[in-house]
Amino acid sequence: MIRRAQDGIYFKNNIPKNFSEKFNKFCDFSGEEFYFSRNIKDLVLFKKLNIIGEWPFQAKFHAIFCRNVTIYFDKKTTDLLWRRLSSRLHVKGEIYIGHSERITNFEELGLRPIGINAYKKVV
Ligand SMILES: C[S@@+](CC[C@H](N)C(=O)[O-])C[C@H]1O[C@@H](n2cnc3c(N)ncnc32)[C@H](O)[C@@H]1O
Repeated sequence: MIRRAQDGIYFKNNIPKNFSEKFNKFCDFSGEEFYFSRNIKDLVLFKKLNIIGEWPFQAKFHAIFCRNVTIYFDKKTTDLLWRRLSSRLHVKGEIYIGHSERITNFEELGLRPIGINAYKKVV
């Protein structure tokens, strides 16, 4: 899956219609497929990570997408993960989770809901 993500080849019919002009700038097209240009791909790092283990990075993020991963975890592990992830968000950064997931103690973590499954870091 990491290899597939790195290859970054997508089908043209997955491009939202109102996005096509924006996409064109960053993509190369070939037949029914498109892929992001090398200069865009080079901005992205794909790595394996055990999300409940040690994290090899120190940086904070502007956006975190962690969707449908906590469905495997008990409440204690899930709560700890939300705490760790929110601590790695810049103020005004956003975290996106799955539709069936909720961060119930969002206030305590300095988060504000910005939709059903997204939160913004406010402090
Ligand atoms: C239900 S899938 C969701 C996949 C994708 N995020 C989505 O929403 O379509 C759950 C994913 O969590 C990953 N996962 C489970 N435990 C994990 C862990 N400890 N560290 C990293 N990933 C984990 C699984 O490998 C799986 O890819």
